[in-house]
Amino acid sequence: MSAPVTRRTFAVDGWSPSSWRTRSTLQQPEWIDHGALRASCADLARLPPLVTSFEIEALRTQLAEAASGQRFILQGGDCAETFDGCEPGSIAARLKILLQMSLVLVQGGRRRVTRIGRFAGQYAKPRSSDMETRDGVTLPAYRGDLVNGPAFTAAERAPDPRRLVRGHERAALTLNFIRSLVDGGFADLHHPEYWDLEFVKHSPLAAEYQAMVDQIGDGLRFMETLVGVNVAQVHRVDFFTSHEGLVLDYEEAQTRQVPHRAGWWDLSTHFPWIGVRTADPEGGHVEFFRGIENPVGVKVGPSTDADALLRTVARLDPYQTPGRIVLITRFGAHAIAAHLPKLVEAVKASGRPVVWICDPMHGNTETVIPQSGLGKGVPVKTRKFGHILAEVEQAFEIHRAAGTWLGGIHVELTGENVTECTGGARGLSDEMLAQAYHSAVDPRLNYEQALELAMLIARRMRK
Ligand code: PEP
Ligand code: CO
Repeated sequence: MSAPVTRRTFAVDGWSPSSWRTRSTLQQPEWIDHGALRASCADLARLPPLVTSFEIEALRTQLAEAASGQRFILQGGDCAETFDGCEPGSIAARLKILLQMSLVLVQGGRRRVTRIGRFAGQYAKPRSSDMETRDGVTLPAYRGDLVNGPAFTAAERAPDPRRLVRGHERAALTLNFIRSLVDGGFADLHHPEYWDLEFVKHSPLAAEYQAMVDQIGDGLRFMETLVGVNVAQVHRVDFFTSHEGLVLDYEEAQTRQVPHRAGWWDLSTHFPWIGVRTADPEGGHVEFFRGIENPVGVKVGPSTDADALLRTVARLDPYQTPGRIVLITRFGAHAIAAHLPKLVEAVKASGRPVVWICDPMHGNTETVIPQSGLGKGVPVKTRKFGHILAEVEQAFEIHRAAGTWLGGIHVELTGENVTECTGGARGLSDEMLAQAYHSAVDPRLNYEQALELAMLIARRMRK
């Protein structure tokens, strides 16, 4: 185990916000209008930032607590946000489900919970092929609203750099509404009824959830009686934002120096992560993210080997800074046991303080063909609730056996009543998938499945 080095800024060894351009960088749009790209990036560099360095520092402190098992991270939201989806009902619903899940997790885990949304900027998607062909016509693949449009026309699929500025604006609108709701008392733990979703009344889980809410209310009132004042800090809960830092033109343009703090800050989000397809330790993404001060997430999958992971971690955090690195593992319920233990052992042996988070979504995607119903005979991408839960449970077990902590979960969910994942207490079947399948990319847990997952995890944490 090597001794920690005193921390300086991360912008060292030839790093600059644009040094990633000298590296091979995957999954970038093929921009055509470079004049418009320059104009958009100049706008992004000039407009007010979405987040501040103060908030980013606060999150890093909380992540450091998660690394040592004192806190649990709940990271969740859409696979891909869309510009059209920027409307108050859907934003409030996502906030509600994250609040409800966190309340259940606090109750079960007896640990503080940090909420990080996959929102206010989750607009760019990596794709397995650059092009898509339909009926003999080939066009660029949809890469998320930050880059192009989903409709299969040449005009929509052409990468449009003006979308970078629209993405920033939509993210600002989203964040503005979230901040107003949170500051205005919507997230007050004294009033969980504000975040009731309609379904709770009709759900098979209603009684258990209500009992948890009542218990928290009793606990708060007890403490307030004891101390004689309102428990000020629990009045308000924080929300942090995150997105996959995929399109580096967008991230670079929002990376700045700030007064009174050293280093460079990516002010497009509190917590960017590097996707599994762009996590090459020698590639452009790791180069970009090694120099910013934000905490950085790295997705880890079946194709990640221990040496590459250790090189990535060493490049991103030469100083062994607690809270700097979050490893988000996503193997699938059938593969986690074969992969996670050796990676955990390798990181543990290196002595590096990382937060381990389980993403039980991306290794569990499958295609099914419903045998009847609306979507009969049409292949559809889905995930089984049982597999999602099984991956989280194995993650808890593997970390327990290794003497490390599972520091949180990373899930794709929506606050709405969609039918994209199967299973759960209501027993959603393949035949029901076509009823309300709205995801722009990956299948998400609906509100009831998301809350059920939190309850089952809480039950396990309580043991
Ligand atoms: C995602 O989180 O939506 C994603 C694309 O994940 P991964 O990089 O793990 O495949
Ligand atoms: Co996804």
